[in-house]
Amino acid sequence: MILITGSTGLIGSAASTFFLNKNTKVIGIDNDLRSYFFGKKSSNKWKELILRKNKKYKHYYIDIRNKKALFKIFKKYKGKIKSIIHTAAQPSHDWAAKEPFVDFEVNANGTLNLLEAFRIYNPKSTFVFTSTNKVYGDRPNFLPLNEKKLRFEINNKHSFFKKGINETMSLDQTTHSIFGSSKVAADILVQEYGRYFNLKTAVFRGGCLTGEYHSGAKLHGFLSFLVKSIINKKFYSIFGYKGKQVRDNIHSLDVISAFNEFIKRPKKGGLVYNLGGGRDNSCSILEAIKLIENISGIKSKYKVLKENRIGDHIWWITDNSKFKKDYPNWKIKYSLYKSLEQMIEFELKNKSNA
Ligand SMILES: NC(=O)c1ccc[n+]([C@@H]2O[C@H](COP(=O)([O-])OP(=O)(O)OC[C@H]3O[C@@H](n4cnc5c(N)ncnc54)[C@H](O)[C@@H]3O)[C@@H](O)[C@H]2O)c1
Repeated sequence: MILITGSTGLIGSAASTFFLNKNTKVIGIDNDLRSYFFGKKSSNKWKELILRKNKKYKHYYIDIRNKKALFKIFKKYKGKIKSIIHTAAQPSHDWAAKEPFVDFEVNANGTLNLLEAFRIYNPKSTFVFTSTNKVYGDRPNFLPLNEKKLRFEINNKHSFFKKGINETMSLDQTTHSIFGSSKVAADILVQEYGRYFNLKTAVFRGGCLTGEYHSGAKLHGFLSFLVKSIINKKFYSIFGYKGKQVRDNIHSLDVISAFNEFIKRPKKGGLVYNLGGGRDNSCSILEAIKLIENISGIKSKYKVLKENRIGDHIWWITDNSKFKKDYPNWKIKYSLYKSLEQMIEFELKNKSNA
């Protein structure tokens, strides 16, 4: 039995489906708070309806801020949960600044509620947390970056050039945004439950997580929202950096296969891993637009705004070496190109909601 929070989200629904396909019972927790954050069009409710059709899936429409309700669920399944995959979150920089209390209560307090329930009722299980590379704040922006025709690129003599940014980057003295701060609090708590209480916890600091099941919104899920905008011939606004900001992209199924490697062979000690698509699956926004245009044959309509998002990364490519060293069986199966093909096909078929 696996307990998944945010079970209808991009990562949560991929995890739910992955384990249901293995005939494992899934306890899903999600109260569709995403539609409160980003509007009805970005709701994940449609995935809840699909998941509920599976008899091995049990859905709890509760809020992770509700400690009493959470503890009741954990008490009910005491000792039976093999792993907890915690993906429920307020996931956007910009939204967090609008309602800092809600952001912190969901991201930080919600995570603490889950960690305590885990420690009290299921301490032998594993706890997987989806953190973010935003915990490093805007420190990556102080790397030696050069402007190229379509992207920013790190100086090729820098140690991060070949493989990307690893976990040695400091978290201090940078601009995190309110969202980055609440995620840092959660990230450190998960590490501490591993170190202080000697439990099996792992923190995965994601880059851009993506896939056809992302209900991309203007404020969260850049690649998904970009695909939807182009396919539905909507105008797309790029925030700053001339559209040359670089992200690496990883498909949700490659994220879940990494989680599964940890769950199969968990280690104690509060592990921390950067997790992303790596250099091969990186693109600037301008490059992403070109790729989507080429695959779909649809011309984009976009403008580049002067102002960038506060704390936004100019260049981020993940170094996955630490995870690969600990879990050598893990490999990325979905290239950026393949992910985009699937996302475009899905959007053309479903004409969702850009
Ligand atoms: N998508 C990315 O690019 C990305 C990158 C780095 C890190 N992450 C992290 O990965 C995790 C999952 O991201 P995602 O893209 O799947 O997000 P998502 O918004 O698709 O899924 C999160 C789900 O959690 C639910 N939720 C939110 N608050 C809740 C609450 N208080 N109680 C119960 N349910 C709640 C939402 O309704 C939503 O369905 C998040 O922690 C996010 O910060 C995502």
